[in-house]
Amino acid sequence: MTRVKFVAGNWKMNTNKAQAVELAKAVVAGAKAISGVQIGCAVPFVYVDAVGQVLNDTNVMLGAQDAYFEKNGAFTGEISVEMLKDLGAKFCLTGHSERRHVIKETPELVGKKADAIYSAGLTLVHCVGEKLEERDANKTLAVVEAQMKELQPAKLTDPSRLVIAYEPVWAIGTGRTATDAQAQEVHAFIRDLMGKMWNADFASKVRIQYGGSMKPDNAKGLMSQKDIDGGLIGGAALKADSFLKIVEAGK
Ligand code: PGA
Repeated sequence: MTRVKFVAGNWKMNTNKAQAVELAKAVVAGAKAISGVQIGCAVPFVYVDAVGQVLNDTNVMLGAQDAYFEKNGAFTGEISVEMLKDLGAKFCLTGHSERRHVIKETPELVGKKADAIYSAGLTLVHCVGEKLEERDANKTLAVVEAQMKELQPAKLTDPSRLVIAYEPVWAIGTGRTATDAQAQEVHAFIRDLMGKMWNADFASKVRIQYGGSMKPDNAKGLMSQKDIDGGLIGGAALKADSFLKIVEAGK
């Protein structure tokens, strides 16, 4: 089973509008020559429109970092999946560790958001990963399994629109990357678990990205692992050249 690797930038709460447009333009310019890897940028809500205009009709997918699960109504401050679709977004994250642990989103809320994003026709990038104390207490696989169970297999039927991002919390923004083997172990577990939640064929088609201090110099090793199908890149995605080097490593 060959899965096309998917490398996405997660810009988090960074850039101003001019910087966002400039970064998007530089990514588009470099991505033109790259084929065989799916490329995306998950940008701050307020720049989805402007960046979307730059990414339109290119090989770089427009994405968002979050969305609320209701379609519209009295939800002050929230952004719906429909609104993001209206601006051309093709994928959206759920369950990023910063939303789970800093913003304190509950598993129930993450699950509702995942359902709304997939049901609206977008590609869902569902993030899972353990904290350092959970790894130290040998709870990594149990934590990841519980986060995977936020998804509803009966509703998620198209494996091409589901992406799992395994991001150990202790590796995010810390410069401390999981070793190739540490990451592969959890990726294999996730694929095996999806085989039980869906079936083996479905599981073999879902891309599982690694995220957490992925950089040009460690990207190749990670993405050469059997079950690592791309990356979700934070810090290194804020510069077009380092992001594009990681994309290249996915070829
Ligand atoms: P990082 O972030 O690459 O800066 O570690 C990854 C992420 O949180 O998606």
